[in-house]
Amino acid sequence: MERITIADVLESPKVGSEILIKGWVRTFRSNRFVAVNDGSTINNIQAVIDFEGADENELKRINTGAAIEVVGELVESQGRGQSVELVVKSFNILGDANPEEYPLQPKKHSLEYLREIAHLRPRTNTFAAVLRVRHAMTFAIHEFFNNQGFYNIHTPLITATDAEGAGEAFQVTTMDLKNVPLDENKEVDYKQDFFGKETSLAVTGQLEAELAALALSKVYTFGPTFRAENSNTTRHLSEFWMIEPEVAFADNNDNMDLAEAMLKYCIDYALKNCEDDLKFLNNRILDEDKKKPQAERTGDLFEKLKFVSENDFERITYTEAIDILRNCKPNKKKKFNFIIDGWGADLQSEHERFLVEKHFKKPVIISDYPANIKAFYMKLNEDGKTVKAMDILFPGIGEIVGGSEREERHDVLAQKIKDQNIPEESVWWYLETRKYGTVPHSGFGLGFERLMLFVTGMGNIRDVIPFPRTPKNAEF
Ligand code: 4AD
Ligand code: MG
Repeated sequence: MERITIADVLESPKVGSEILIKGWVRTFRSNRFVAVNDGSTINNIQAVIDFEGADENELKRINTGAAIEVVGELVESQGRGQSVELVVKSFNILGDANPEEYPLQPKKHSLEYLREIAHLRPRTNTFAAVLRVRHAMTFAIHEFFNNQGFYNIHTPLITATDAEGAGEAFQVTTMDLKNVPLDENKEVDYKQDFFGKETSLAVTGQLEAELAALALSKVYTFGPTFRAENSNTTRHLSEFWMIEPEVAFADNNDNMDLAEAMLKYCIDYALKNCEDDLKFLNNRILDEDKKKPQAERTGDLFEKLKFVSENDFERITYTEAIDILRNCKPNKKKKFNFIIDGWGADLQSEHERFLVEKHFKKPVIISDYPANIKAFYMKLNEDGKTVKAMDILFPGIGEIVGGSEREERHDVLAQKIKDQNIPEESVWWYLETRKYGTVPHSGFGLGFERLMLFVTGMGNIRDVIPFPRTPKNAEF
């Protein structure tokens, strides 16, 4: 008999048919009712063991976490909570899980504890739900760009350019760290390293995506990015996934339109396709909320998702943002850690969250930041001091998207590279695209895990990626 997934069984239940399912035992009640889950859906199927001659020793092996196969007849359920159940004809334990040792018991475990057993946490409802939503969001992103005529580009993960200029790259080397070769000036001699130059893991695929956009018009990347910033927050990973579209003949307004449409598409996709998982995650949130004071509650996930999907994002310039912040209560009462007293300061996450959560109460796109707090590739405005940048800020998250129109004028870009002391030998190829058929173009980066935080309502970025990499943590 061929195995059928629980998702398929529940999708169109053929009452009266005999089926074979395989999965893992979630609970075993009254020596009779086995809840089996195979991960194809958040829903379990209840198998009812009700036959003469069921072997006592075999029944003892039905423990939480054990792998089981069951043959039975699908019938309408007698009990509440499910529409159909399986009347067991035979079962077979495929893999035992000793109840004395198995770390996942049928009770609620803390997310912190589950992080310590990340090799087993996909077996919990919460993580399986997150992983299924993660798959759905990956699919939605590819579908969105494919529908709009974009081509997916694979950019290199090993690079010799620090494109964001933040000096946060992980070095890649095959040198013997106990015996590093030195040149005549006693500096590290990278000529002897694997690539014959200093290399690192990519912090972005943008520069290469631009090269492709200047030939294919509309491209996007979707890959891992690596940042060695030492920020232990609920929003930062050392290894995260980023989506970076790049569009020729597009200005920064087109860029904002594209980003807003993409985010809404993903949220709508989740609402349409991940209902069972989102319901489960939402119940978790509402349960947690009951224990919290009003001000700290997360609130209903579906309402938040629908609100963002149905309303226009607020669009303001950096200068307007500074005016609002300078005159707001928490700034005047010195409640912010960083007081805003003038134009030019970088916005901290407390300021971003004030604008989104308190002032506008909706997603905000901030554009036209001071040139000196943004990367070298952003297009300089006519005022000579701001760039055509845009960041999208989300409630509960802060920055979810960062992007810009690119500096396409050769002389201006060459000057910026010089001013920022970027070694020309590491970006000569990038600069050269501005010599041949240069055109206005724009793009942005979406942090995939930040999107996942928003869509699932989870509170910590370590819980929306299967195996998080953070400072001092690379287990599993
Ligand atoms: O704003 P960022 O640094 O922009 C870039 O890398 C550009 N090259 C993108 C582009 O224009 N093509 O990063 C983009 C997004 C951020 O808005 C944030 O959502 C996410 O990537 N991000 C992180 N996510 C998790 N952990 C980190 N350490 C992150 N750093 C950035
Ligand atoms: Mg940014």
